[in-house]
Amino acid sequence: MSITNQEALFQQRVDQEIKIEARDWMPEEYRKTLIRQISQHAHSEIVGMLPEGNWITRAPNLIRKLILIAKVQDEAGHGLYLYSAAETLGVSRDELIDQLHTGKAKYSSIFNYPTLTWADIGAVGWLVDGAAIMNQVMLCRASYGPYARAMVRICKEESFHQRQGYESLMVLSKGTEEQKAMLQDAVNRWWWPSLMMFGPSDSESTNSEKSMLWKIKRQSNDDLRQRFVDATVDQAKLLGVTLPDPHLKWNEARGHYDFGEIDWNEFWNVVKGNGMCNKERLQARVKAHEEGQWVRDAAMAYSEKKKKKAA
Ligand code: 3HC
Repeated sequence: MSITNQEALFQQRVDQEIKIEARDWMPEEYRKTLIRQISQHAHSEIVGMLPEGNWITRAPNLIRKLILIAKVQDEAGHGLYLYSAAETLGVSRDELIDQLHTGKAKYSSIFNYPTLTWADIGAVGWLVDGAAIMNQVMLCRASYGPYARAMVRICKEESFHQRQGYESLMVLSKGTEEQKAMLQDAVNRWWWPSLMMFGPSDSESTNSEKSMLWKIKRQSNDDLRQRFVDATVDQAKLLGVTLPDPHLKWNEARGHYDFGEIDWNEFWNVVKGNGMCNKERLQARVKAHEEGQWVRDAAMAYSEKKKKKAA
């Protein structure tokens, strides 16, 4: 069958909402964009453990420590799911890890911001995981089966992440004046980078057109960002915080909140590696990977021994 017929059949399956599985024929470009997106998603989960891990030893009490440990562990699991989903496309884990460590692969820019106070941990849960859920619920309907299925499990855990973050901020919002000021400061610093998580504006998005045609992306960057703003403004009111955007205003005619212009120079500057924590994050990842080599060696030795015994 000629490529054009195969491509036509492939697109027909996508249009008919039939999941594409690992063994199905797929255009090379489809496979490549999935490897790009799924691996960068996995990198984001793993690097995302670092800003929160920074507060495990400094959580204000045992319950908060337990919750934070559970959340950081979840992120590791999300990363492993997603690396496994990427491997179904014929790429090795080692190759993906190397792309991260050598700076060839991206991860979400949000994780290059520092977590300066305990309130940041709540803001990460509420805003960062809140934004991630908005995007990941959409990905549960992605055309590639292994990715969509991984998302279903991940989204269940993300909901816990977002709720625990919001609840911890609710406690601070009812606390001392210092705690309320710490809360507002964290929101001031995490609001705009959270909006950047949805990617560049639709007009600047280089991958969206194909990604929407192939039903990897089901809603555009701007649409999801707007949904996130609309859903989050009222939550902010309940917390008694002011979102750091003087242009934020309900627009009855649009049925949405209007909001100010994102600083795309800041976004691309961080994506390009010049954020506050980019270097520190990659150094931490490389160090952890190197220090974990003995675990991988032991696991390989054990599996070789088991194979020999079974032979
Ligand atoms: N940070 C870093 N790079 C970003 C970015 C961000 N927030 N948003 C977009 N980019 C990059 C894209 O990767 C792309 O570069 P590339 O072609 O070299 O990969 C470029 O900017 C142009 O953006 P596009 O909109 O054209 O790219 P996409 O179509 O891939 O859309 C996306 C970007 C919406 C992030 C999409 O990749 C996606 O949905 N990814 C899966 C979800 C994901 O990765 N979320 C990250 C956070 S995970 C998380 O927070 C987990 C939580 O538990 C902590």
